[in-house]
Amino acid sequence: MQILDGKLAAQAIKDALKLDVAQRSNEGKKIPHLAAILVGNNGASETYVAAKVKACEETGFKSTLVRFNSDIDELTLLEEIDNLNNDPDIDGILVQLPLPKHIDAKKVIDAISPNKDVDGFHPASVGKMVEGLPTFIPATPYGIMLLLKHYKIDTKGKHAIVIGRSNIVGRPMSILLSGNSNPGNCTVTICHSHTTNLKELCLQGDIIVAALGIPEFVTADMVKPGAIIIDVGITRVEDSTRKSGFRLKGDVAFDQVAEKTDWITPVPGGVGPMTIAALMKNTYQACIENN
Ligand SMILES: NC(=O)c1ccc[n+]([C@@H]2O[C@H](COP(=O)([O-])OP(=O)(O)OC[C@H]3O[C@@H](n4cnc5c(N)ncnc54)[C@H](OP(=O)(O)O)[C@@H]3O)[C@@H](O)[C@H]2O)c1
Repeated sequence: MQILDGKLAAQAIKDALKLDVAQRSNEGKKIPHLAAILVGNNGASETYVAAKVKACEETGFKSTLVRFNSDIDELTLLEEIDNLNNDPDIDGILVQLPLPKHIDAKKVIDAISPNKDVDGFHPASVGKMVEGLPTFIPATPYGIMLLLKHYKIDTKGKHAIVIGRSNIVGRPMSILLSGNSNPGNCTVTICHSHTTNLKELCLQGDIIVAALGIPEFVTADMVKPGAIIIDVGITRVEDSTRKSGFRLKGDVAFDQVAEKTDWITPVPGGVGPMTIAALMKNTYQACIENN
């Protein structure tokens, strides 16, 4: 068993970006600027946004955090997006999800200008991704592709089982892994809550991407020896021994599954840091393309 160390791979990506940004700065060119919108004070969202802002600082990007109370009305949020769309200093815009229930998240995402859509959730970005055209790829699946690339994992011809079909993880992951690319060229099976023979399917998987949000769902009896396991899940579970009162659990029962695998991502320290590194890459790309 070997660890797909997302912290290490993400650091390598951020180090490379930092050099590129320093060079741009020396040449008098614009440096990347990410705007993050955070609505409410959901603990996990606060943590994710803080990590994104910190990554901007580490790589020499500018960042602007726009905060709103959870009772903000949809129109005000849309107006803020419009302002950011029209601000030439802003290269990338992200809206931290989930949004409060009274706000239509799709309407908000669709309002982001496609050339600043660094989360890759806008239908224009999704359409290009499906066609295999250059675009902003949703950060989590993009981060996983970068991780596979960093460790030179040969995915060609492998059967990948993707558990979860959300627009932000499972579905784009299935599209990327099935693409004619490297990594990619997998035969992909995408599973969801109505899949009836999940264990059987998982046992056929050379690669399993677990993105369903149920802690330790994937157990050793579901995994073929020598499989490659990508654990996307992050769930906060109570832990009174921790100062925070919780700890993070993945969708894979790491302790029992790891020994059967060739490669596996830990939680934390696997997909999470790669998601942020991928967001930084998208923001850098937006800066180059917009300026
Ligand atoms: N590491 C990171 O950076 C990162 C980024 C994003 C998300 N995450 C984590 O990844 C997990 C998934 O996130 P998400 O946003 O994709 O979640 P989501 O929108 O809730 O989607 C979960 C998916 O899992 C499927 N599912 C639920 N129960 C299932 C079961 N028993 N068997 C098979 N499939 C099942 C659902 O099926 P249906 O469609 O049928 O309901 C759905 O497609 C969460 O823990 C989230 O916190 C991590």
